Amino acid sequence: MKVVAIGGSPRLNGVTNYLIDQALGELASRGIETEKIVLNQYKIGFCQAHSNCASFSECQQKDDVPWILEKFATADGVIIASPVYFGTVSAQVKAFMDRSFFLYTHGKRPQPKCAGLIAIARQRGFEETLRELRKLVRSPEIQVFTIAAATGTADTDPKAQTELIKQAKDMGHRMAEVLLAPQG
Ligand SMILES: Cc1cc2nc3c(=O)[nH]c(=O)nc-3n(C[C@H](O)[C@H](O)[C@H](O)COP(=O)(O)O)c2cc1C
Repeated sequence: MKVVAIGGSPRLNGVTNYLIDQALGELASRGIETEKIVLNQYKIGFCQAHSNCASFSECQQKDDVPWILEKFATADGVIIASPVYFGTVSAQVKAFMDRSFFLYTHGKRPQPKCAGLIAIARQRGFEETLRELRKLVRSPEIQVFTIAAATGTADTDPKAQTELIKQAKDMGHRMAEVLLAPQG
């Protein structure tokens, strides 16, 4: 049983990363294996829109995306988190979304049991950003838990976000319940 988190903020000490850690901590405390992948720490190129994408056994770009996509597509649960940049997901997340197209052209649509989506703004745009994140986990069978909020300040101390921390722990708790439920 494994949950893979895709982090879209370049700020390792920012709110988005902190909330991912809270949710993953809760999952780990239930014995679920977790892994956080902060996109900004890896080499991620833009999709080159090869019209014959489906004909390639491997993505033609030699960077870190193939192994990240493999982990993302095979996880039992996923968390996808983004700060709000210009009213939408960060460029890191958008690049990852476009590159995930390879999964679809190869019949590997991700089917995790559950997903946690986190969109964090300073003021606004979190609902729009959440809508974008949902595109990565469209299937109706996936149980989706969400956090979409504004912190109100530019450089807030993540540890001071008590309400959001509560929500992130709750997200982890609820995802664990889905993952540990007996198979029906
Ligand atoms: C390039 C850029 C664009 C941003 N655009 C928005 C925006 O459209 N709306 C908003 O409320 N905050 C915006 N922000 C602020 C971030 O969403 C906010 O600081 C968020 O908490 C960052 O998350 P982090 O702490 O995980 O880095 C922007 C920040 C940056 C760097």
